[in-house]
Amino acid sequence: EKVILAYSGGLDTTAIIPWLKENYDYDVVCCCVDCGQGNELDGLEERAKYSGAAKLYIEDITDEFCDDYIIPCVQAGAVYENKYLLGTSMARPGIAKKLVEIARKEGAVAICHGATGKGNDQIRFELSIKALAPDIKIIAPWRDSKWKLQSREDEIEYCKQHGIDLPFGTDQSYSRDRNLWHISHEGLELEDPANEPNYDHLLVLGVSPEKAPDEPEYVTMTFEKGVPTSVNGKKMKVSDIIRELNRLGGKHGIGIIDIVENRVVGMKSRGVYETPGGTILMEAHKQLEELVLDRATMETKKDMGNKLSQIVYEGKWFTPLCEAVCAFVKSTQEYVTGEVKFKLYKGNIIKAGTTSPYSLYSESLASFTTGELYDHHDADGFITLFGLPLKVRAMKMLELEKN
Ligand code: ARG
Ligand code: SIN
Repeated sequence: EKVILAYSGGLDTTAIIPWLKENYDYDVVCCCVDCGQGNELDGLEERAKYSGAAKLYIEDITDEFCDDYIIPCVQAGAVYENKYLLGTSMARPGIAKKLVEIARKEGAVAICHGATGKGNDQIRFELSIKALAPDIKIIAPWRDSKWKLQSREDEIEYCKQHGIDLPFGTDQSYSRDRNLWHISHEGLELEDPANEPNYDHLLVLGVSPEKAPDEPEYVTMTFEKGVPTSVNGKKMKVSDIIRELNRLGGKHGIGIIDIVENRVVGMKSRGVYETPGGTILMEAHKQLEELVLDRATMETKKDMGNKLSQIVYEGKWFTPLCEAVCAFVKSTQEYVTGEVKFKLYKGNIIKAGTTSPYSLYSESLASFTTGELYDHHDADGFITLFGLPLKVRAMKMLELEKN
């Protein structure tokens, strides 16, 4: 029988290979799902095979990650707890989907992942797998009573005992997760919220605002139906747009957040996330929506975006609710077409003009002269009715005070 292991090539998932063979007697098929993490995939196959894997799949889902997960979240403006752009969260369902696909192809009976028992990732992987393949057994070594390895040293020793001698350092670094959209950092000094992050040591995708250039840089972007289509006049597919925005945003110190967030499993955890391109993309999209969405749609959309952020954070991507929320959001994007211009300057995104053929902004309406469409006198009656409940209540209060 076969098990599919979500494999990164790191120490944790490498130690899991001999562990699965020893404790479950499965043939281990490793699967490394590439969501644009930008790391070296060279040598991964030799490493997996050397560690006892029967086979290694390297699956690049970067474009699917963009089209099916990132874009819906951008369009919804999905941000968790007002700050977190969900980089890790939104990659999980896509990875799980690919693992299930490989499991079917290989006729595997189980899927194994290396997420710890304290985090959100275990929930996201497992809810997604359950929704797509309810018959597949899920193995989570870190929660398994047969797993006795408590530290990196234990894992290195265990690997050695099983004939795997690889140059894994024992030094502790941040716990990181990277993909095209972001990189997360947890652990080390961040574990105490009283500590300032050591940005020089920590940042991977760019510089802090202090170290950013003293000159602002202008950027223009176009969107069609809520999908970004070009940067600085160059048409590109979404993944290339995000790569280019990552470069620009990283250079100007954009999108670094420091958050104490509430995990699904109940605890608070502190993390620093770098989302340079994502922050620009979401801001640019919002800049255009301001011009083309009507007030009521915008308000409901804000609620839906908040809802989607919870859905994504909690790993409930493959649910009817997620589908329905995304359908709503998609229908609001029909006229989100146009061009936005802004400048990047020391961590800030500063607007520099927005245009759209579908703009609802009317200069003549907004200016102070009375025209055909808007007569100032109409506001009289409107305010009388709009303010009626406030006035009635205030009159009652006055009356009660007198008695
Ligand atoms: N706290 C973030 C989240 O829940 C990031 C998790 C990072 N995951 C990781 N395996 N390092 O989405
Ligand atoms: C983990 O525990 O695997 C990483 C952190 C998280 O999932 O929240």
